[in-house]
Amino acid sequence: MRLVTVVGARPQFVKAAVVSRQLRPAHEELLVHTGQHYDDAMSAAFFRDLDLPAADVNLGVGSGPHGATTAAMLDGLEPIMLEHEPDGVLVYGDTNSTLAGALVASKVVFRSGRRPWLAHVEAGLRSFNRAMPEERNRVVTDHLSDLLLAPTPVAMGHLAREGLADRARMVGDVMVDAFEWAAGHGDGHLPPAAAAVGDYVLLTLHRAENTDDPARLASIVAGLAVGMPVVFPVHPRTRGALERAGCALPPNVMAIDPVGYLEMVALEARALLVATDSGGVQKEAYLAGVPCLTLRTETEWTETVAAGWNRVAGDDPGALAAALADPEFMRRDRPRPALYGDGHAAARIVDAMDEHQRGLARDRQLSEVAGA
Ligand code: UD1
Ligand code: UDP
Repeated sequence: MRLVTVVGARPQFVKAAVVSRQLRPAHEELLVHTGQHYDDAMSAAFFRDLDLPAADVNLGVGSGPHGATTAAMLDGLEPIMLEHEPDGVLVYGDTNSTLAGALVASKVVFRSGRRPWLAHVEAGLRSFNRAMPEERNRVVTDHLSDLLLAPTPVAMGHLAREGLADRARMVGDVMVDAFEWAAGHGDGHLPPAAAAVGDYVLLTLHRAENTDDPARLASIVAGLAVGMPVVFPVHPRTRGALERAGCALPPNVMAIDPVGYLEMVALEARALLVATDSGGVQKEAYLAGVPCLTLRTETEWTETVAAGWNRVAGDDPGALAAALADPEFMRRDRPRPALYGDGHAAARIVDAMDEHQRGLARDRQLSEVAGA
């Protein structure tokens, strides 16, 4: 099987690393990086930490308005597809890089008249909040995909309700594979800022709905003034937004540069509580057995809320102090079922794509025989 994988943003490097490791021994993969994330700490650090081979092509698209950057990705991806004529195209998650990969895969037609199939990892996630660019990206990508690789029964249910059940497979969540891999490599990766303190809250914040609304950002920042260190690896988008809004962090907040994946897993494991608007970090808090406060008005990862490990707090400035003072919420002895699978999602993803490819080859043979 010949694949073109399209990645571009931090969480996609994490997911692609475990799938590529599984894929490459038996299949051919061309890894294309759109360049959506480009700082060393947002991109190259992940390739190093996760032993992900360097991208074969980097489109160097960089930052800018949604339309311009997505258009530049389309422009860069189409000739690559035409040159390599892959059997399939693999995309992850819900970023603009995901959408661009999906659009090109679904439109391109090779000289032979064939077009590649499209596989979407992390299919079926829904926040039901169409104001989020990620929600629009994931809905469009799911509807364009030939193979929907869903992490959970909840995601399978969303796909079925949208009439997509026949293309969907439940494979589990590749972030469990990555997390377990990192846990085996993560000793000694705690950043010095966190190693120097006792208990701390770990904070990440980058969603447009939080960073691009100064009042909302100010409300979240005001809520960080709790009597304990808050370790905050700051996404570049958020650093810019804080500066523009003139929003000073309370003195207990330790702002550091974004950290690599192994450092992040070490930070999560030692945290007393995780506060975040990240999808991936919510799940990792659950995997680490650390209570999580989600700084959004809704979450796609509803299983963690139902299991009692996650609380959706919006921008309520009192939520963090209230969570820390709530012994029931801070309990760590509550059950933690394997909501996201068994850590073998990558193998199932490769098997599902292989089976899809062999099914197409069989169908082609049958139609040739019928036409002969
Ligand atoms: C993107 C995804 C989001 C995902 C997140 C993961 C979209 C619409 N959003 O959000 O779903 O959760 O990645 O982290 O695709 N910047 C830098 N250096 C970098 C990267 C970004 O300085 O290496 C700054 C730039 O000012 C840029 C801003 O961050 O304009 C936002 O970057 P962008 O990729 O547009 O969106 P993210 O917020 O990172
Ligand atoms: N992450 C990291 N360093 C950081 C912040 C996040 O390694 O400073 C990792 C995190 O562990 C998770 C992934 O990046 O695996 C999540 O990415 P992000 O929060 O940017 O995006 P989302 O998951 O919300 O799309």
